[in-house]
Amino acid sequence: MAPQAFIRVRGLEKQFDGKPVLRGVDLDVAEGETVVVLGVSGQGKSVLLRHLNGLLKPDRGEVWVGARLLNRLNEDQLFEVRKQVGMVFQLGGLFDSLTVFENVGYMLREHARLDEDELGRRVARLLALVELEGSEALYPSQLSGGMQKRVALARALAFEPRAVLYDEPTTGLDPLVAEKINQLIRNLQKQLGFTSVVVTHDLRSAFAIGDRFALLDAGRIRFAGTAEQARASRDQLMCEFLHAAL
Ligand SMILES: Nc1ncnc2c1ncn2[C@@H]1O[C@H](COP(=O)(O)OP(=O)(O)OP(=O)(O)O)[C@@H](O)[C@H]1O
Ligand SMILES: [Mg+2]
Repeated sequence: MAPQAFIRVRGLEKQFDGKPVLRGVDLDVAEGETVVVLGVSGQGKSVLLRHLNGLLKPDRGEVWVGARLLNRLNEDQLFEVRKQVGMVFQLGGLFDSLTVFENVGYMLREHARLDEDELGRRVARLLALVELEGSEALYPSQLSGGMQKRVALARALAFEPRAVLYDEPTTGLDPLVAEKINQLIRNLQKQLGFTSVVVTHDLRSAFAIGDRFALLDAGRIRFAGTAEQARASRDQLMCEFLHAAL
């Protein structure tokens, strides 16, 4: 029997103000695997991602992370899940009024019981992982878009997560910087071995980093498979996506 997936979504439904967005999403992400979620803008990719660490609650269906069914957890328990499942938000989500050090370290300071020296070393290590050594004192406004994404990534790695969720990690970056971010995502995943879910409509990036691909459309996963299976697919939307990537 195949090993059970680390992230499992079953029949996930979510609506906002009576408007259905997710209409029964099923998705498996194996331990250590990188799954890319593709889809046209507004199809609910960010909404799906936010269910995977309990930022949103399903109307119906189940979301499992490891042995935990997120639907049933209270906020304290969800906080523990969020330490294990780091998230890089679509717009970076950095606090403009805080330095890089504070942005990366504030959750650690509150929840990891480190003294200031340990905290300093931990933040320095996280910044080294994303190749931003020595940037502690800078403010987000002093960073390029690519650097801001790196800081957001360092923050997502703060609690040594078992999974990382990326919402459009390369959108809005020029192709060279996007390629650097892709390399970083791939290298970190190899080095640290965590499970990744990457939402993007940047097809080049998708094929550079994904082990498997899932296409979200009309509230469901319309196709899921490897790059090879995607190329062999006769699904029209999948074909359109592939052509756009060439
Ligand atoms: N908190 C919310 N309240 C109300 N509606 C929401 C909320 N979050 C998302 N939506 C709606 O859900 C739909 C899907 O949004 P979502 O942000 O997941 O799309 P997306 O696939 O990530 O798009 P993009 O590629 O542009 O980021 C949109 O119609 C959006 O307006
Ligand atoms: Mg989105």
